[in-house]
Amino acid sequence: MTFAVTGGHGEFGSAVVAQLQTLTDQPVVATVRDPGKPGAAGVEYRPGDFDDPATLRAALADIETVLVNATFFGADPSRRLARVTAAIGAAAEAGVRRIVLTSWSDLERATMPTVQDYGELEATVKAAGPAWTILRMAVGLGDAVARDVVWGRQQGELVAPAKDATITPSTPADLAAAAAAALVNPSLDGAVLELTGPDAIGWDELAAIAGIPFRAVDDDEFVAWVVTNFGLPEAVARQLAALYADFRGAWAGTPTSTLGDLLGRPATSGVDAVRLRVDRFPA
Ligand SMILES: NC(=O)c1ccc[n+]([C@@H]2O[C@H](COP(=O)([O-])OP(=O)(O)OC[C@H]3O[C@@H](n4cnc5c(N)ncnc54)[C@H](OP(=O)(O)O)[C@@H]3O)[C@@H](O)[C@H]2O)c1
Repeated sequence: MTFAVTGGHGEFGSAVVAQLQTLTDQPVVATVRDPGKPGAAGVEYRPGDFDDPATLRAALADIETVLVNATFFGADPSRRLARVTAAIGAAAEAGVRRIVLTSWSDLERATMPTVQDYGELEATVKAAGPAWTILRMAVGLGDAVARDVVWGRQQGELVAPAKDATITPSTPADLAAAAAAALVNPSLDGAVLELTGPDAIGWDELAAIAGIPFRAVDDDEFVAWVVTNFGLPEAVARQLAALYADFRGAWAGTPTSTLGDLLGRPATSGVDAVRLRVDRFPA
């Protein structure tokens, strides 16, 4: 049984590789764009560029199970759609037995423009030929709301268009460990797994991390607050405000037990998941 992880130099990909090494004695291959870059001991780094699927076909030729890490390639979802579609095709043509694909949480209720490619990616992996497992997760969610806490701490109050909003953040480390567990567990073939944090939290709890009050505002007030206090262009502030529509709605607001089940231990709580990202946020 051989395993490969795409994007093996990235934060998420390298964490999956490290976790995978604790779960299997089998070779672990990481596909990367620059195999000359220093990596982890005991990992075989092979060239693999989503923009050059032939490299991935070659890298995956003797691989049984691959994690196709549908990472972030910028705000335009068509860029990820093209790249990850090519990677899935390359894996199938290489003859892998099983593809594990990272997707986005609660896809049916996700209205965020930047994630609208994931439905097609899920359909593509299901039709590709190899067995598949889909891991729906929001790796960057903790970071997105950690920014609220960091900005709130600077201003003395947490300001966000998040009245009655709830989210279920988890740590990238837990998600990476769960992805590794899914890679070594072929009984998950054909499963679409929703990996959320273990609890739902709101913005009062986020504000409590910094010991400050939460003030709910509407989108326009939020944009003005961000532009005035942090000097961001209005277009960027509007993109940030757009995230909250899903936080206020039902998107991923209900925790599942799947993450803890895969980890075989309780997942990190939502508040702790955000706190860990606050601690490493650039000042
Ligand atoms: N569903 C999810 O929520 C989900 C899952 C995974 C990641 N993400 C998000 O994606 C973002 C980045 O994740 P990360 O931690 O893996 O990324 P990261 O640390 O920023 O690294 C990006 C990764 O993408 C790779 N990459 C970029 N262009 C590529 C290409 N053309 N072909 C092959 N690989 C390419 C990079 O490879 P090089 O090392 O060669 O530059 C690197 O491994 C985060 O914001 C994370 O939240 C989301």
